[in-house]
Amino acid sequence: MTMLQSKPRLLTIEGGEGAGKSTVLSALRDALLADGCEVVCTREPGGTPLAERIRGLLLDAGDEAVHPHAELLLMFAARAQHVQQVVLPALARGAWVISDRFTDSSYAYQGAARGMDESFIAELERRAVGIEPGLTLLLDLGVAHARERTRGRDLLGGASPDRIERERDDFFERVREGFLARAARHPQRIRVLDAGPDAATVAAAALGVLADYRKALA
Ligand SMILES: Nc1ncnc2c1ncn2[C@@H]1O[C@H](COP(=O)(O)OP(=O)(O)OP(=O)(O)O)[C@@H](O)[C@H]1O
Ligand SMILES: [Mg+2]
Repeated sequence: MTMLQSKPRLLTIEGGEGAGKSTVLSALRDALLADGCEVVCTREPGGTPLAERIRGLLLDAGDEAVHPHAELLLMFAARAQHVQQVVLPALARGAWVISDRFTDSSYAYQGAARGMDESFIAELERRAVGIEPGLTLLLDLGVAHARERTRGRDLLGGASPDRIERERDDFFERVREGFLARAARHPQRIRVLDAGPDAATVAAAALGVLADYRKALA
């Protein structure tokens, strides 16, 4: 039914802001590098110069309200560019690709949280993306807990919240439910990890999932 091509060496990390995606990505990258693999780490929205410019537009639209359809289509414009320019070439030469966010984020943010029609998102996915990861790690964390983490990080780095980070808690509750619904629908591909424990514990759980996954591939 999916009509998407599954790419075994494409790994994606999903979850709300502050769940620990970047932290887990580093752990997975280090494990694959230590094993002599070529690894390409990337992120969405972004990952190419054009897609990063689209990211800039998405996260800072100035004073203009962004219509949900514009947000959805810009996300997929960036993703199409990212897949063609970065993800597919890397996979074609046998590299592993780890992406900090991918299409599941559009189902959660633009779909579940902003209310865009899921079948429209699926159509964009089929036509403009065409592939799905072999393995997705979903870092699940309560909204209040995630806010504490991003607040700590932003205070340290002096960053101010972007357009999406400025949404209210009910938005992030819908994002979280949207991700969990994706996981329930794709139990083989998406592994849910409790992102609540300390970073070392979450990283160890993620590495365990990756090791099992690679064993099953071999
Ligand atoms: N398991 C953890 N326990 C406690 N703190 C953590 C954990 N994982 C990450 N952190 C810290 O919480 C903050 C957010 O983590 P991180 O940047 O990895 O999240 P993220 O999901 O990539 O966020 P964003 O979506 O904003 O990029 C960072 O300051 C990080 O050091
Ligand atoms: Mg991050």
